[in-house]
Amino acid sequence: METQVDEKKKKIVDFCNDKHQFIDKKSVDLLEKEENWEEILNEIKDQMISAEKVKSMIANRESKLSNVKRETIVKKSGFKAIAKEVDPDFRIMTEYEVTGQSKSEGKVKDFLNYFSDKYAFLSGLLKKRVGFNPKPLNKLKTAAKYEEVDLIGMVVRKWVSKKENLTIEIDSPEGRCIAIVSKDDAEINREAGKILIDDVIGIKGKKFADEVVIVQGFLWPDLMQRTPKTAERDLSVMLISDMHIGSKLFMEKEFNKFLSWINGNANTEKELERIGKIKYLVVAGDNVDGVGVYPSQFDELAIKDIYGQYNKFTELIRQIPEHIEIFICPGQHDAVRRADPQPAIPREYVKELYDSKNVHFVGSPSWVEMEGLKAMIYHGASHHDMYSAMSGLDAKKPEMAMIELLRRRDLSTGFGQIQPYVPEKFDYMLIREEPDFYFAGDMHHKGYAQYRGCLNVNAGCWQLRTDYQVKEGHVPTPGIAIDINLKTRKITENNFYGGEDGNIS
Ligand SMILES: [Fe+2]
Repeated sequence: METQVDEKKKKIVDFCNDKHQFIDKKSVDLLEKEENWEEILNEIKDQMISAEKVKSMIANRESKLSNVKRETIVKKSGFKAIAKEVDPDFRIMTEYEVTGQSKSEGKVKDFLNYFSDKYAFLSGLLKKRVGFNPKPLNKLKTAAKYEEVDLIGMVVRKWVSKKENLTIEIDSPEGRCIAIVSKDDAEINREAGKILIDDVIGIKGKKFADEVVIVQGFLWPDLMQRTPKTAERDLSVMLISDMHIGSKLFMEKEFNKFLSWINGNANTEKELERIGKIKYLVVAGDNVDGVGVYPSQFDELAIKDIYGQYNKFTELIRQIPEHIEIFICPGQHDAVRRADPQPAIPREYVKELYDSKNVHFVGSPSWVEMEGLKAMIYHGASHHDMYSAMSGLDAKKPEMAMIELLRRRDLSTGFGQIQPYVPEKFDYMLIREEPDFYFAGDMHHKGYAQYRGCLNVNAGCWQLRTDYQVKEGHVPTPGIAIDINLKTRKITENNFYGGEDGNIS
């Protein structure tokens, strides 16, 4: 027996030597217990094979096996989805897709292009507003003192003057100007409190000096008021986000319940009918927990290898019925650049999913038209910036930050905030069209709001409350898959965790 073990160990070491890989004793001991040790080693591409890596590969294989079993169970049900009977009708709006288009080198000229593209688009929207006739900033001197003037500019500075008036410096290609908000005007001060650096705003005011204006009102590029659009076909889109697969806190049990459910294992006929209408699924980022995202993360990982995390992700996503078109964007935990706009997760991590006809990897932000309705999908990193930069927002109401970004028609919140941006020549962060839906994640908290024809939906998460969230006092809403009927715009929460609202208390 002893000789047999030694022989197997020798075979393992020789196998690695042949592939010019180094293997430590612990890894050899682990593999010696595995029947399929050759297959496991073939999957490891590292030159130095560690015990951690071997453990995660073994764990992945085990979960793969249990998933296969589950798939067989759900296939037994005789569920027929109406969404399966119809062809999909969608278009990834590649004109707003950064994937494969990133041209920035981070040079001064890139920043200049970025700002001029942003300014041209946002000032163009403001110029179209009825009753607003902006003067170029260098023409302010031609107006008489106290004459009413309309101006547009990008905010470069904001401070409180010695006389305690809020003062804003705006810039434009035609010059600069100082805008003063009187401390006695509570309403305009409230509005001015929302203005952030780099915002492009319209000002209605009275000239005070050649480069100074007294503010009487602000205008945002904003969405127009309109009736919400609906689809003709009675189909739904489902939104999930922030699985953080690979984290010890990933709620695998609950996610498996969701997978079983979406395959037709429902409690009631009515629920089954609703599942049958799901034709599209949006996955809004932080699909895996990543490796090395923050300093103490390593100890919090159940799968300590990024490929292992994506293997697990692949196994889970593959269990979603094939008639559902899946759109997956990255988040700050995924294996792409952290800075926005983020390109799609590369093929090397998720080959099998790239080869699946119904799975589409898109950037963050990205735009997808489904059943004639346009959805803007963004993981939501800049939402965090909104909370730190603006008072009056609540992390339990992510929809409030979403509305603030829609008002700006801009998903970025200014350079110098927490979230980094890459200055692309074409600014992918701008909200160039009026979306019918704005789908996001990131805050780990559900949230909904209807705003000027756009339905904002923020997904919760599939990760239990982290130590960081406990420190921040943030309570997530995990284990909820949200479905939105495209014909009626009705939102339904499907809760796979805990109490009535899914909150962790
Ligand atoms: Fe997340």
